[in-house]
Amino acid sequence: MQTDLRGRDYISDMDFSKEEIDTVLDVAFQLKRDRALGVPHPLLRDKTLALLFFFSSTRTRSSFEVGMAQLGGHAAFIDSDTTQISHGDTAKEIGEIYGRYYDGIAIRQCDWDFGNQYINEVAKASRVPVLNMQCDVYHPFQILADLMTIIEKVGDPRGKTINVSWAYASSYQKPISVPQSLILQMTRFGMNVRLTRPPEYKLMPDIEQQAKDNVRRHGGSFEVLDDFDAGFKDADIVYPKSWGALLTTSDNAESAAIGKKYTNWITDERRMALANPNAIYMHCLPADRNIEVTDGVIDGPQSVVYDEAENRLHAQKAVMALTMR
Ligand code: CP
Repeated sequence: MQTDLRGRDYISDMDFSKEEIDTVLDVAFQLKRDRALGVPHPLLRDKTLALLFFFSSTRTRSSFEVGMAQLGGHAAFIDSDTTQISHGDTAKEIGEIYGRYYDGIAIRQCDWDFGNQYINEVAKASRVPVLNMQCDVYHPFQILADLMTIIEKVGDPRGKTINVSWAYASSYQKPISVPQSLILQMTRFGMNVRLTRPPEYKLMPDIEQQAKDNVRRHGGSFEVLDDFDAGFKDADIVYPKSWGALLTTSDNAESAAIGKKYTNWITDERRMALANPNAIYMHCLPADRNIEVTDGVIDGPQSVVYDEAENRLHAQKAVMALTMR
C-alpha cells in the first residue's frame, strides 16, 4: 500500500499513481464502513479546508463540508463573488494567503481555457494541498466516487466495458471534465473504455492520447465511436451524459445549435436493453430529465446514481485524510 500522500495536490486524475489510487479506494471503503458502524474517525481534528467556488454545486459543496466535519475538522464555504477576487486578488495571492490560514484549499473553477490554469497557479503559491473540485479539464473526485461505485456494483473493473457517451441536454453547455477524467482513470484499471460522441463533441487530443498510453501500460482497450446505439451494445457500465462542443466552437449559441442536431441522443429503455442485461446506468448529476435520460432509466433498477453521489463523500474523505494529515 502506497501512503505517501501527505501534502500532495490532487488536480489531475494522473497526479496520484495507480497504486496511490488503490490506497485512496481502500481508505474510502474503510471510512464508509466506519460511518455505517458509527465508528468516529476524527483524522483531521482542528484542521480546516477552504472551499472556493466559482460555479454552482449541489453534491460537491455538501460532500466536502460534511466530510470535513466527519473527520473532525471544518470546511469554510467561500463563494468567489463574495471575495475580493473580482477586485484584483490574484491566484498567487489566494494560494499564499489561504495557504497560511487553512490546511487545504479546494477549488471549483470550470471556466473554459482558464479553470485548470487558475487552480495550478493557486497550487504553485500554496504551502498546503490544493484539491480540484472540478475545472475545465478534470473532475477527479467524481471519478473516484465512480470507481467505488463500479467496484461495489460490478466487482473488479478489469475487463469490464464502460461506455462513456455524450447525450443531449438543453440546460447548459456542460464541462468536458467528467468524460475526460473518466477515460483517463478507467483506462488505468484495465477496463475496455468506449468513448461515444458525435464528431463535434471531441475531447482534448492530449487526454485521449494519455488514455491510449494507459491502455498500453495497464491492459484493456480504448475505442472511439460516433453511433449512440452502438455505444450501448453489450456494455457493463453505461455513463451517457452531455457536454458542450467546446473544442468545436467557443460560441455558446453555435454550440447549442450543434446540439440540436442530436436531440435523439437520449438514454431510454430501448437503449439500455442493448447493454449487458446486468449493466448499470451511471450519471454524475445534475441530469436533464427526459431530455438527457428518461425518468424510467434514471429511476429504474439499473440506475446507481444515488449510490454514486453518496460515494463522493467517502472518496473525498479518504483524499482529505491522506493529504491533509
Ligand atoms: N457531480 C457534481 O459535481 O455535482 P455538483 O455539480 O452538484 O457538485
